[in-house]
Amino acid sequence: MKDINLHLLVWRQKDADSKGGMEPYLAENISPDISFLEMLDVVNEGLIKKGIEPIEFDSDCREGICGACGMVVNGQAHGPQRATTVCQLHMRNFHDQDKIVIEPFRARAFPIVRDLVVDRSAFDRIIMAGGYISVNTGGAPDANTIPVSKEISDQAMDAASCIGCGACVAACPNASASLFTSAKISHLALLPQGKVERKKRAENMVSQMDKELFGDCSNIGECEAVCPKEISISHIARMKREYLRAVIDE
Ligand code: FES
Repeated sequence: MKDINLHLLVWRQKDADSKGGMEPYLAENISPDISFLEMLDVVNEGLIKKGIEPIEFDSDCREGICGACGMVVNGQAHGPQRATTVCQLHMRNFHDQDKIVIEPFRARAFPIVRDLVVDRSAFDRIIMAGGYISVNTGGAPDANTIPVSKEISDQAMDAASCIGCGACVAACPNASASLFTSAKISHLALLPQGKVERKKRAENMVSQMDKELFGDCSNIGECEAVCPKEISISHIARMKREYLRAVIDE
């Protein structure tokens, strides 16, 4: 495939307190085989050579596993390809002379740090509120003696595949963190080792989610549609059941 040229419109913002705006850039001679983030690397090399501040964005693994990347590409969190992080989105999904609009994830609980980088530490605080098992579960051989059915372990594994990228929040009109929080609650509540603390966990994580000013879930489903790991909104239903069980039992 031939190299392509693209017209980018990118959100630039110096820091959290500055006013941001869209800036046009040309991405020239882009190989269709490179990833979206590598395309931004090429653009940034050109900007640095011209003495212009490069476009800031987050990334770490660039393999779809860490959740660090994430931006809104042409109105969609992580871009047009389903079940794909923006670091795994390839430029072969675009055509020569395409216009691409690139913006940060937008939510009150995710303040912009600079350009496309947002502060997602609200997610860390939700995990700190209960997204762990603190009871003594023994070593690996002990864990292997507790039978877990295939159906339950599959469900727990599906929930555990959440990488915490925040696309669910960015895509939700309520900026709800329900898919993220419910995936973490589901993962642990389904497993025998996690059941001991399930009530405290559900109560604490849901209340931290509210404190961080995320909106509530109104069953729109956009979170599931953009999730790069295809986490099901059925986990939100489980989170609500776990939360109700906790408050009714009090
Ligand atoms: S950089 Fe790790 S998931 Fe994209």
